[in-house]
Amino acid sequence: MKINNQKTVEKDELTGDKLLSGHESDNIRELDNSLPKWWVWLFILTIVFSVIYIFVFDVIKVAPYQQDEWKNEMAAAGTNASGQTSLVADTTLIAMSDAPSLEAGKEIWLKQCKVCHLEGGQGLVGPNLTDNFSIYGCKYGNLVHITTVGAPEKGMISWKTQLSETQIKQVSSYVVTLQGTTPPNPKAPQGEPCK
Ligand code: HEC
Repeated sequence: MKINNQKTVEKDELTGDKLLSGHESDNIRELDNSLPKWWVWLFILTIVFSVIYIFVFDVIKVAPYQQDEWKNEMAAAGTNASGQTSLVADTTLIAMSDAPSLEAGKEIWLKQCKVCHLEGGQGLVGPNLTDNFSIYGCKYGNLVHITTVGAPEKGMISWKTQLSETQIKQVSSYVVTLQGTTPPNPKAPQGEPCK
C-alpha cells in the first residue's frame, strides 16, 4: 500500500471527479464525492422521526404501543390475545335492583332470551341460569360480560349490536333475580360451581 501525500486536488481522469487524497489501495483510488442531497435529507428525517417517536411513545405516552393497541382492541371485542372469549369480566359491577329496571329486564328476557334459556331460566339450548353452576361466572359482571360478547361458536350470540348497554344490564339484573330459583325441569348443571 502506498500512501499518497500530495496536497493538490487530484481529479479522476475518466469522470473529472475529485479524488480523496491518501486513500489508495492496490491502485484503486477513492472519489471524494459529497453525499447526494436526497440521502442526507432522508438521514436527517429519520433522526427527526426517531426523536418524535420516542417523545410520543415513551415520554408523553399519548400513543399506545402496537402490542397494547392489540390488547385494547381484543379487550374491547371481549376476546383475549389468543382470540378466545375472555373470561375476564368486571365483577365489581352491581346489579340494578329497582323495579322499573327489572321490569324492563324481564321484558327483554321474555323477548330475546326465553327461547333458549326458557322463561324461568331453567335452560334448554342455553344452560340453566338458576342453578349454582356456570360456565362463564355467576357474578352479575360475568352475566353482563357474556351477554355483551356472547359465545357465538357455542350458540350464544353477542347481544351488543341488538341491545344497548343499559338493556344488557337490565336483562342481566333480571337474570340475577332468577339465580337460586327452582323452576321445573331444570337442565343439568354445566360449568363450574359458583364461588
Ligand atoms: C339462540 C339461543 C340463545 C339465546 C337466544 C340466548 N342464549 Fe344465552 N346461551 C346460549 C347458549 C348455547 C349458551 C352456552 C354457551 C356455552 O356453552 O359456551 C348460553 C349462555 C349464556 C350465559 C352464560 C351461562 C353460564 O353458564 O355461564 C348467560 C348469562 C346467558 N346465556 C344469558 C342470555 C341472555 C341474557 C340472553 C338474552 C339477551 C340470552 N342468553 C339469549 C344460548 C342462547
